[in-house]
Amino acid sequence: MIQATPSGQGLGARVDNIDLSQPLSQEQYKTIEGLLGKHGVLWFSKQTLTSAQLKAFSSTFGTLEVNVANMYQDPGIPEVMILSNKKVDGKPLGLADAGQDWHTDMSYSKMIAFTNVLYGLEIPHRDGKPLGNTEFSNMRAAYAALPDELKKKLEGMTVLHDFNKFWENMRKQPGCTRPPLTEAQLKAKPPVSHPIFLTHPITGEKILYANPGYAMRINELPEKESDEILNFLFEHQLQPQFRYRHLWTVGDVLMWDNMGTIHNAVADYTPDEHRFIKRCQVMADRYFPLAA
Ligand code: OGA
Ligand code: MN
Repeated sequence: MIQATPSGQGLGARVDNIDLSQPLSQEQYKTIEGLLGKHGVLWFSKQTLTSAQLKAFSSTFGTLEVNVANMYQDPGIPEVMILSNKKVDGKPLGLADAGQDWHTDMSYSKMIAFTNVLYGLEIPHRDGKPLGNTEFSNMRAAYAALPDELKKKLEGMTVLHDFNKFWENMRKQPGCTRPPLTEAQLKAKPPVSHPIFLTHPITGEKILYANPGYAMRINELPEKESDEILNFLFEHQLQPQFRYRHLWTVGDVLMWDNMGTIHNAVADYTPDEHRFIKRCQVMADRYFPLAA
């Protein structure tokens, strides 16, 4: 029987008694889906998975994203992306700076993301402590803690999300080698709008769907007021009581609900301290078929 143990922090639970290399039964799928809605972040320890098995497990939850512009794919399995700072013959093996600021995946896309599944194969350590932690914040709790007046005021409003916001912020980081997006890339990823409050398709609860990484503007408000409220929300949504910090162990599968949480990859390791993670992004097409 699958067993879940809450982290004791603002979200997250460890899940035991399941081997993710095996196909999930319908009952196991339903259990994990429910746990993901409830806890926002799940981790499974001591897993041994091939890339094909990681892909098979992830695709149980929906259609996998294949990023055509991304060259860091597992050879032969484009749905499996490599996050790594390792190099072979001077050439990067993976995307080295993924997610290094608070965001939720794919809020800039018409079809948003449901769950991101990461499988940790090499984790940097210093003085016996894991580096490259992944931090999360709970957007159900963040919504619930908003002042009633603000909930009322913002109800029905929408937020504009832009892929280029995160990209340009990364470019300002020292040592970043990302070139500016080309005209063609900008055209392929135009800003999109989503409701500022989503009803979570698994739990039916309201969540705050805005994140510092991609959210540009509350469309229905004048620019100055939109800026003020977004800045308030960005601060509000990161309060310590909403948070969980995942300290990686090799063999962990870490998956999170991209609708009900936001996350940040902590960039506290050097190019010589190696991190190697395989990743599958699952889109929310099962819940929002009309946006597909
Ligand atoms: C991502 C991401 C976090 C991490 O893959 O989208 O944000 O800790 N990763 O690697
Ligand atoms: Mn991310």
